[in-house]
Amino acid sequence: MPASSAPADGPGHPIVDIRGLSLIYPTADQPVTALSDVSLSIAKGDFVSLIGPSGCGKTTLLRVIADLERPTSGRIAVEGLSPEQARLKRLYGYVFQAPALYPWRNVERNVMLPLEIMGLPAAERRTRARAQLERVGLAGFERKFPWQLSGGMQQRVSIARALALQPDLLLLDEPFGALDEITRDHLNLHLTQLWRATGKTCVFVTHSIAEAVFLSTRIVVMSPRPGRILDVIDCDLPRERTLDIRETPEFAAIAHRVREGLKEGHSYDD
Ligand SMILES: Nc1ncnc2c1ncn2[C@@H]1O[C@H](COP(=O)(O)OP(=O)(O)O)[C@@H](O)[C@H]1O
Ligand SMILES: [Mg+2]
Repeated sequence: MPASSAPADGPGHPIVDIRGLSLIYPTADQPVTALSDVSLSIAKGDFVSLIGPSGCGKTTLLRVIADLERPTSGRIAVEGLSPEQARLKRLYGYVFQAPALYPWRNVERNVMLPLEIMGLPAAERRTRARAQLERVGLAGFERKFPWQLSGGMQQRVSIARALALQPDLLLLDEPFGALDEITRDHLNLHLTQLWRATGKTCVFVTHSIAEAVFLSTRIVVMSPRPGRILDVIDCDLPRERTLDIRETPEFAAIAHRVREGLKEGHSYDD
């Protein structure tokens, strides 16, 4: 991708560049238009949240970036490459909605699995797994099995597994959606610290307004299906955030704008 394709709306080289992208699922009865004319540019080091009602195409958009779905039309580049090339170069890590850990593997061996598939030597696999488990606050839990951990801890294992690939880009699909509010608060704090410490670019799917405002540098508000971008909101709170920031008028103002965007897109008749 030539440098001239860098958009005017984001500083530096975009990690993800999406132009006029649409995706139609060809189903047995009626085709489903999941995404319609989506354009979005994500700069290095950004934390971008995708927010919108259930079924609006958030997961589909994340899966397109990850080369798990092919767009019907439009362009997408990931670090200047096609999504397929980026996937083959393992430029991203993906955290699914459910932790998807293998119950017969202990925590460390779950984190090492993708590294085994990559063919890394055993010593390197262990070093990387240990480092990432420590990063997510799970040092000492290496030999536990997933069923011995809480839901929040399991999701941290799945984040460690994605980080062990040492990707520039982290794609997270509602990773805390199934957790109670107290655990979610704790993991949001942990994730923002991790993002600051590692400088990774994150694309984060959520339908929680508070979570999106707390974590993001930019919030992409999507319409009900077919998913379109209604608003892109700069979340210019200080990068270093504690949970108290949610009590500030600046936080409330951004949350209000997200809420208005979501309201505007909603037809309320389905
Ligand atoms: N493989 C598929 N085949 C057909 N329709 C699908 C498929 N995956 C998702 N959809 C439909 O596409 C729309 C967007 O889905 P999705 O991206 O999962 O939304 P979200 O993550 O925002 O809830 C939904 O209407 C969903 O039913
Ligand atoms: Mg989804």
